[in-house]
Amino acid sequence: MEVRNRVVIIGTGAVGSSYAYGLLNQGVADELVLIDLNEEKAEGDVMDLNHGLAFAPSSKKIWRGTYSDCKDADIVVITAGANQMPGETRLDLAEKNAGVFKKIVNAVMEHSFDGIFIVATNPVDVLTYVTWKYSGLPSERVIGSGTILDTARLRYQLSEYFDIDARNVHAYIIGEHGDSELPVWSHANVGGISVDHYIQQHKDLYSKEDLEPIFHKVRDAAYHIIERKGATHYGIAMGLVRLTKAILHNENALVTVSAYLNGHYNQKDIYAGVPAVVSRKGIKEIVELNLSDGEQKQFRDSAAVIRNTVESVYP
Ligand code: 2OP
Repeated sequence: MEVRNRVVIIGTGAVGSSYAYGLLNQGVADELVLIDLNEEKAEGDVMDLNHGLAFAPSSKKIWRGTYSDCKDADIVVITAGANQMPGETRLDLAEKNAGVFKKIVNAVMEHSFDGIFIVATNPVDVLTYVTWKYSGLPSERVIGSGTILDTARLRYQLSEYFDIDARNVHAYIIGEHGDSELPVWSHANVGGISVDHYIQQHKDLYSKEDLEPIFHKVRDAAYHIIERKGATHYGIAMGLVRLTKAILHNENALVTVSAYLNGHYNQKDIYAGVPAVVSRKGIKEIVELNLSDGEQKQFRDSAAVIRNTVESVYP
């Protein structure tokens, strides 16, 4: 029998609809189901997306669905919930969105969903943990977008700085997708040459002093965008498409996502952003970077921020 990949998107706000648009443009998934409390909005998005099918790289069935469509889904992506207002942090959304998630995850599971959850709503590390708890699915099949976007932002900023294609710049942001995240400078490289070494080789052009402000631009990027346009959605949507592709095409791709740590990085029972190998089965392996002492401490502090918030919403 023909295997058709089905992705269900719950929440068709700016992130959910940009993600759907990204899947359509990149020819990922065969069936796309949109669910939103605002049925008219989901319906409108479905109509609009269907009108692009003639220009898409592959055929697709797109419809406004209900939770019963989750039964045969390969991936359920949750982007629903409140988003940050200017001045709010991601953590400020925890209580409100954890309540929304309880209802959503229970509704999905009532229809015997047995695929992979991807969580994008903030605070994403906290809500991924909550999704794992409410769903009862194995932790490798509950994945948060984590620091996938922050890592992409760092690669972009470094590519601008060094004037080298972002795809040849490798550097990770790990920890909370939020204010306590950290850059892993000890493993950052340009085409295989460590960033430190690269800077030394080009002393006249670059300086290590510039790295900290580059990281600040990354960490604070969402605030700057929200100030200007009220929300961020294209970047995260493309990150979600990347992750979806890694799963559906069984890529064994290395992406920074929010994954369940069970002793990794000296942390237990927590979801946090780390590099991981992603395949059709979900998280196949968590890649343990050999962090410097300073990075280890920062990671510990960041994990504590996530843990405290989890405890306040899921005691
Ligand atoms: C972002 O980093 C707001 O979490 C969202 O763009």
